Amino acid sequence: MQIYVDTANINHIRHCAELGFISGVTTNPSLLAKEDPSVDIRQRILEIYDLIGGHLSVEVNSTDTNGMIAEADEILSWFPNATIKIPMIPEGLSAVRKLSNKGIPTNVTLIFSANQAIAAANAGATYVSVFMGRLDDISFDSVGVLQDICEIWDVQDYESLIIAASVRNPLHIIESARAGADIATVPYNVIIQSLKHPLTDAGLNAFLKDYQKMTELKSSLNK
Ligand code: G3P
Repeated sequence: MQIYVDTANINHIRHCAELGFISGVTTNPSLLAKEDPSVDIRQRILEIYDLIGGHLSVEVNSTDTNGMIAEADEILSWFPNATIKIPMIPEGLSAVRKLSNKGIPTNVTLIFSANQAIAAANAGATYVSVFMGRLDDISFDSVGVLQDICEIWDVQDYESLIIAASVRNPLHIIESARAGADIATVPYNVIIQSLKHPLTDAGLNAFLKDYQKMTELKSSLNK
């Protein structure tokens, strides 16, 4: 399972690019607005693309099919490798079909059920983004929904890649991988949290102390 970072924060994306195991970035209008509501969106998206160089999903803000297609054309004029993020509404599915017919990659967002995922796959979505945290927020078992979708994908051989989105904690990453998601898009703080383990820190401290002892002993013997 690949890991993307779900953010529009330049410093966090820069750090993720250095980490070496993050292969893409997903953004949405809320993430862009959180950083700097006055930012020029084109400029920010291009800054992000320069840093990550891999997958970058950029969301449209229209709710009608033609508006979505026009926005997709504009985003693609900024950089041709863009994946166009489209909301899971009927007008969005029509846009996905039209973009898919032209070979343009799409990421259908705001998917909360297997029915929605099936519709998006049949419309030709390249990616289907299944939201976990927001389902958990309403006491609905997000892992169960993701497992259902992964199971259906195996049975039906759908080609759309499954993204676990709205990830809120490291356990969501493990559950997504276990279910069979292709990608988890994860907020920066959760990525960092997921790398930590107290035994790693304790073990490294012990190694460093022992190495220090050895170098001190060697230097005292050489005197
Ligand atoms: O990838 C979708 C994500 O940005 C939504 O996350 O935490 O706002 O539900 P959240």
